[in-house]
Amino acid sequence: MRLTFEEKQMLEGKYGYPTQKAMEILIQLGEIYNAEEMLPVSNVHMPGSSVVVAGEAGTKFVEMMAEKGGKFRAFTTLNTAAVDFDLWKELGFPEATYKLQDRLTRAYEAMGGVACHTCTPYLIGNTPRFGENVAWGESSAIAFVNSVLGARTNRHGGPSALAAALTGRVPAYGYHLQENRYGHVLVNVTAELNGIEDYGSLGYWVGRIVESKVPVLTGIPKDASIDQLKMLGAALASSGSVALFHAVGITPEAPTVEAAFGGRQPEQVLEFGKDQLLEGHNSLNKHQGQEIKLVTIGCPHASISEIETIAKMLENKKLHNGVDLWVITAVPNKAYAERCGYKGIIEAAGGHLVSDTCPILSPMVYVAKERGYSAIATNSAKLAHYAPGQWALPTYYGSVERCINAALTGKF
Ligand code: F3S
Repeated sequence: MRLTFEEKQMLEGKYGYPTQKAMEILIQLGEIYNAEEMLPVSNVHMPGSSVVVAGEAGTKFVEMMAEKGGKFRAFTTLNTAAVDFDLWKELGFPEATYKLQDRLTRAYEAMGGVACHTCTPYLIGNTPRFGENVAWGESSAIAFVNSVLGARTNRHGGPSALAAALTGRVPAYGYHLQENRYGHVLVNVTAELNGIEDYGSLGYWVGRIVESKVPVLTGIPKDASIDQLKMLGAALASSGSVALFHAVGITPEAPTVEAAFGGRQPEQVLEFGKDQLLEGHNSLNKHQGQEIKLVTIGCPHASISEIETIAKMLENKKLHNGVDLWVITAVPNKAYAERCGYKGIIEAAGGHLVSDTCPILSPMVYVAKERGYSAIATNSAKLAHYAPGQWALPTYYGSVERCINAALTGKF
């Protein structure tokens, strides 16, 4: 790989051990993908921020890098953690997890990480611009930043994102290069898409077919909300491993189908009509009409607009006895929700406004057992995909209205 003078100095250890190690990791990664050079990045979103993923070994590694003087050269936000730092006791998280998470978070902070602990950093101020090279982890956030904002990232795991943060560099390969950003599969969406869950069902159905290819979707309404696009990307990255999709007329680099394909022909053409919408929905919602104990909204983390919707549904109401409700969001949105009165309404109904964590990146198997959660309901295609395998619990999937109704009645 061609290295600049500064990059060579990093490799030679002139900037200290953590930066040297980080450069070694990036060079190895670049050689695997035949990268010819490094690209500067000034923005990182750090996966592996939960101790459920990092474990004791990963935490020790991050602590070691911090103790040896590692300092981030890029603005770096931290992804979802394993506990809610405010409510961990109340929600039933084990103290050992809280303590280990605290160690990991402090180590990242010592190097300059922003401990926002959310998978939707783009909703709270980490918002890269069109065409910017960044290094992001967390599959739903990667799909969003590539496809809705039009920034450029590969799928980073913890070690490569840490290396990018320490050096301010990424190897030039994959989605950083224009030739790899064109579409492969054309998806003509003719189904009427309404709620967020329809976008989840669409993404889930398409992701299973295209796997890691780049789908180009026509027919997505031009007024699709950020929350709907957020769910579309999360679902595409759950059943498939899609890191970039083009919603024609919405994705900045895809004003037309021709632009999305770069003048090439699609490898495959798919139709997504009302039968496919139903198929996508049914593949996530295999159970019906049973009792639920936990309702979770906010995977990916909820926006203030989603919190407002839920608060309006819960005004002057009480959750069914024995049912828990988690509305999961980022800390700044929790503060907005408190100021707007939404937090008070959700709590008065018996629900929780949860921050920092989520059911998948927390020790939820332990919590579910402790609190007797026998089945859950969610409007998230991603959560409905992972939860049954991870917790072996029946998971019901539907609109936010249906989920809140389940929280009020105890039945989905
Ligand atoms: Fe976010 Fe956790 Fe869902 S990281 S996308 S809330 S699985």
